[in-house]
Amino acid sequence: MHPDGPDPKVIASAAALLQGGGLVAFPTETVYGLGADALDPDAVRRLFAAKGRPADNPLIVHVATRRQVDQVARDIPALAQALMDRFWPGPLALVLPRRPGVPDETTAGLETVAVRMPDHTVARALIEATGRPVAAPSANRSGSPSPTTALHVLADLEGRIDAVVDAGPCRVGVESTVVLVVGNQATVLRLGAVTEAMLRNVVPSVTVAASAHGAAASADETVRSPGLKHRHYAPKAPVRLFEGPERVAALSAAREEGVARGERVGMVVTEESGLHGPDVVPIASRKDPEAYARALYGTLRHLDGLGVDRILVEGIATDGIGAAVMDRLRRAAAQEKTTG
Ligand code: TXA
Ligand code: MG
Repeated sequence: MHPDGPDPKVIASAAALLQGGGLVAFPTETVYGLGADALDPDAVRRLFAAKGRPADNPLIVHVATRRQVDQVARDIPALAQALMDRFWPGPLALVLPRRPGVPDETTAGLETVAVRMPDHTVARALIEATGRPVAAPSANRSGSPSPTTALHVLADLEGRIDAVVDAGPCRVGVESTVVLVVGNQATVLRLGAVTEAMLRNVVPSVTVAASAHGAAASADETVRSPGLKHRHYAPKAPVRLFEGPERVAALSAAREEGVARGERVGMVVTEESGLHGPDVVPIASRKDPEAYARALYGTLRHLDGLGVDRILVEGIATDGIGAAVMDRLRRAAAQEKTTG
């Protein structure tokens, strides 16, 4: 369906599946999510099984109205309200104190719950028709790049879910910014399209957890943001990321080495790199980090589909959404889980 014109019949049948405890993938402005009734522990257990997701990684609960926030969260700090007023609907998830009615399955047993109102007409129509808050992790098999089209969802989850609502490609392309709010302190746990600078306009004291820049999470941070300890965003082929002023030369040299070893080498480069050839994807201009973000996961999936042995990636500046892009690329390039 058109992203701005939800088909009421399709929405009604997708909502009925969710009401019955089913699993329905749907588009948001960031990536496709895999939805389940957030208040139904059996449905959420099926969701974890379909994704192959570790049970200790909590879900983001998606809402269509401010009233639904109060169904899952309590004692909402004034600061969180200010962030909702400024950025919702939009790519910002807020970690808030949870209500007892939210099952442990949804929050992985934490006393907090992540909540977000997506800026996508189809997503909100589906949540509203369901009449329940909808838990929705990215609709990929755990560890893979998030899906930005319905075809990506089917490639990972066909046969494991009940339906996917197709409304074309996602506008943003990387997952939402996750912010923990405690009293008058806000901490960014995951970078996204709502940037640190945008948050600072509302909350001058906002801080960014070191782990949100793709660094290894400390034990303390792992407790606050359990998703960080798991390997993420990675295609099947190993990824090597090139940063810094000599990155194009280093990337070209690494390609030569790979080819000399008899490997098929895929490359993701900026238009300004001047690199061309088979298995080379000029993803976007260095001046357009939004376009880079939008195309990133689809490009990694495309190169996997070609069967390359290795993927070399030219990084971009950490301006704007570039910070989120580089975080995802550093994680994709990490060969092993950072902990456990
Ligand atoms: O853009 C998005 O957020 C997408 C779309 C579908 O909305 N969803 C998404 O969900 O990316 P997921 O499950 O792939 O990532 C959720 C992240 C994980 O890193 C998880 O650990 C963190 O949010 N999270 C969820 N609840 C949390 C909580 N109570 N405390 C700390 N981190 C939490
Ligand atoms: Mg995910």
